[in-house]
Amino acid sequence: MSTNPHILVIFGSTRQGRRGEVVANWLMDRLALRTDATYEFIDLRDISLPFFDSPTLPVYGHLAPEAERWAAQVERADGFIFVTPEYNYGYPAVLKNAIDHLYLQWVHKPAAIVNYGGFSAGYRVAEQLRLVLIELKMVPIREQVGISLVPGVVPNVSDKPDSPSGAFLDRALEKMVNELLWWAAVLIPARERDRQDQD
Ligand SMILES: Cc1cc2nc3c(=O)[nH]c(=O)nc-3n(C[C@H](O)[C@H](O)[C@H](O)COP(=O)(O)O)c2cc1C
Repeated sequence: MSTNPHILVIFGSTRQGRRGEVVANWLMDRLALRTDATYEFIDLRDISLPFFDSPTLPVYGHLAPEAERWAAQVERADGFIFVTPEYNYGYPAVLKNAIDHLYLQWVHKPAAIVNYGGFSAGYRVAEQLRLVLIELKMVPIREQVGISLVPGVVPNVSDKPDSPSGAFLDRALEKMVNELLWWAAVLIPARERDRQDQD
């Protein structure tokens, strides 16, 4: 049986003509080179949740029927990488909605952020998202990857891996994933202990 952590990569843009696919593809290509975890890609287009309007709260374990498959996917994960654009300094509503549909499935798991955007490379969305993740008792990690989609602004996914900016991006990603997996390894047995205590 594999003891490698299972990491869900959650892509937060669903708009038509989204440009973030180059970022998501770059990330999954890089993660495919690693053997220290399993990495599953989740496109929120495929999850297609309704706007959250349940009369009962996910924090008490209640799920909307449409969210049950989503809940099972998040439940199986030992950690997350959110790939998110910056919309007006914040996260896309569709990403927040997917987060809000669940609660217990997120708890005591680490989360990393790959943010992208204009000149700012989307760094402000990560600041806001971290606050949300803390409320869900997740462990948002410090290391992150920021990517600008403005041509000529570095770092950019079109930079060659052997160029200084391409190498910088790869190094930033490696540090981020290493830290994510460090926390995943710490928290897997801790959650297991909690489960045993509840039995
Ligand atoms: C509604 C909206 C708001 C945006 N706000 C910001 C912003 O605050 N900061 C930024 O760097 N880019 C901003 N942008 C530019 C996006 O980062 C850019 O369009 C990017 O391609 C969005 O990702 P997507 O194409 O994968 O959806 C915004 C784009 C949209 C559509």
